[in-house]
Amino acid sequence: MRVSVFGLGYVGCVSAACLASMGHEVIGVDVNQVKVDLVNEGKAPVVEERIGELIAEVVRTGALRATHDVREAIADSEVSLICVGTPSEPNGSLCTTYLERVTEEIGAALAERGGRHTVVFRSTMLPGTCLNLLVPILEKNVGGTAGVDVGVAVNPEFLREGTSVRDFFDPPKTVIGELDAASGDVVAALYEGCPARCSGCRSRSPRRSSTRTTPSTASRSASRTSWARCARRSGWTRTR
Ligand SMILES: NC(=O)c1ccc[n+]([C@@H]2O[C@H](COP(=O)([O-])OP(=O)(O)OC[C@H]3O[C@@H](n4cnc5c(N)ncnc54)[C@H](O)[C@@H]3O)[C@@H](O)[C@H]2O)c1
Repeated sequence: MRVSVFGLGYVGCVSAACLASMGHEVIGVDVNQVKVDLVNEGKAPVVEERIGELIAEVVRTGALRATHDVREAIADSEVSLICVGTPSEPNGSLCTTYLERVTEEIGAALAERGGRHTVVFRSTMLPGTCLNLLVPILEKNVGGTAGVDVGVAVNPEFLREGTSVRDFFDPPKTVIGELDAASGDVVAALYEGCPARCSGCRSRSPRRSSTRTTPSTASRSASRTSWARCARRSGWTRTR
């Protein structure tokens, strides 16, 4: 599959390198030119076990390259993984500025490109962020309906700094929140060959209710309770 990965920090860099090593054709995108240059030179922009060798190898084979150009990345891919930062604000909330900006940029590039593309959010988010904030931004910029004209899914990551390459290939499970079945299928196809069991859920009813949460949030609680119970309570139906 042709994949764009937005944000080449810990999560994006590891996801991009590991997906490329699994046979996908990956383009990493970052606003930071230093990170883009490092990846294109086959060097890792983060310090992490095994990531240096992995990036050197997948860049050498042509499976991974990097750019700062959103349009180029969108034109050359069928799915985008959003891995930009969501730092904590002084009041404890999560900053969504980078998520909003990258969603706008991807939406605008998709409006020019046409054809179906799936946007997958991997960044950590609070309840309602995907459905109530990001989906409307995407729809406005694409000029279409999410789940119909553009796929949307949430795929929170379980990587721990220090062992993130190992965690990518052997996560406790792969969680997929899908707006529509086709979007979830795209994410499941990305991880084909990974041993982790896929757990999926879909929004049960109109997606903009303020009581909805995203699977990303549900998954964070899942370490303490059960993922399935948490998703059910949050208004999502289990699909996988
Ligand atoms: N690092 C971890 O171990 C970890 C663990 C759990 C969850 N997360 C979550 O994963 C997400 C990413 O974390 P991280 O540690 O990789 O962040 P990071 O800050 O290391 O990297 C984010 C990258 O996104 C880039 N970026 C910002 N705006 C962009 C845009 N418009 N287009 C392209 N790139 C853009 C930044 O330049 C930066 O390189 C966050 O939501 C974080 O909370 C991270």
